[in-house]
Amino acid sequence: DFQLPLAGRTVTISAGGTREPLDPVRFLGNRSSGKQGVALAVAARNAGATVRLLAAHMDVPPPAGVEVVPVETALQLREAALAAAADSDVVIMSAAVADFRPAAVSDTKIKKRDDREDPVITLVRNPDILHELVDLRNSAAPGRRQQLIVGFAAETGDSDGDVLAHARAKLQRKGCDLLVVNHVGTDKVFGQDTNSVVILARSGSEPQEASGTKTEVSAAIISRISAELNSVSP
Ligand code: C5P
Repeated sequence: DFQLPLAGRTVTISAGGTREPLDPVRFLGNRSSGKQGVALAVAARNAGATVRLLAAHMDVPPPAGVEVVPVETALQLREAALAAAADSDVVIMSAAVADFRPAAVSDTKIKKRDDREDPVITLVRNPDILHELVDLRNSAAPGRRQQLIVGFAAETGDSDGDVLAHARAKLQRKGCDLLVVNHVGTDKVFGQDTNSVVILARSGSEPQEASGTKTEVSAAIISRISAELNSVSP
């Protein structure tokens, strides 16, 4: 019998970069293009999953055949992610979430004024959504603890060894099941069509490398996820 590996599964994927408003026309943002998250959504859809894409700002359009939930800020993404997680078999946090947001959002455009000091932007911490998703999953009834949670980590470092050490610590801290690690420089990854990653598992199995186009990398990530899901009883 032919069956797609994620048939009957619901996969929630966050993608793109959050934007944190300063005033009605300005925001703090990041360089995430959304390409990796969109490629994951395509791969999950092609593997037979029902896909929900929580889309922060993206430079690329969302794919056909997936449900799209548009979000702007980290707090909006948090709401959407916690709601979507309730009935998801898999949650993949590939969005670049702002760690901080402006403490206050001005109702009107911030203006230059010669009679006043230059403005200072105070930032406050955003919640760690990935961490909250893990806590939520871990506090669920025993029968509902099978949810697989996948994080991404963009790490800078002088060597691959350095990067892996940081990533292992992050995996422990966040408590997710899989962590997809990118070794980044400013010229790498963001907006590019290719990527090179290492997939770390909390279960401690060997790190798995995947590289190529974001489509190829996504296929590898999705097949790893399928393998993890199908290795535990459904
Ligand atoms: O700690 P760091 O930002 O490197 O972790 C990256 C991972 O955590 C990504 O999966 C990202 O989507 C997620 N994240 C989150 N909430 C935040 C910051 C990051 O879920 N506030």
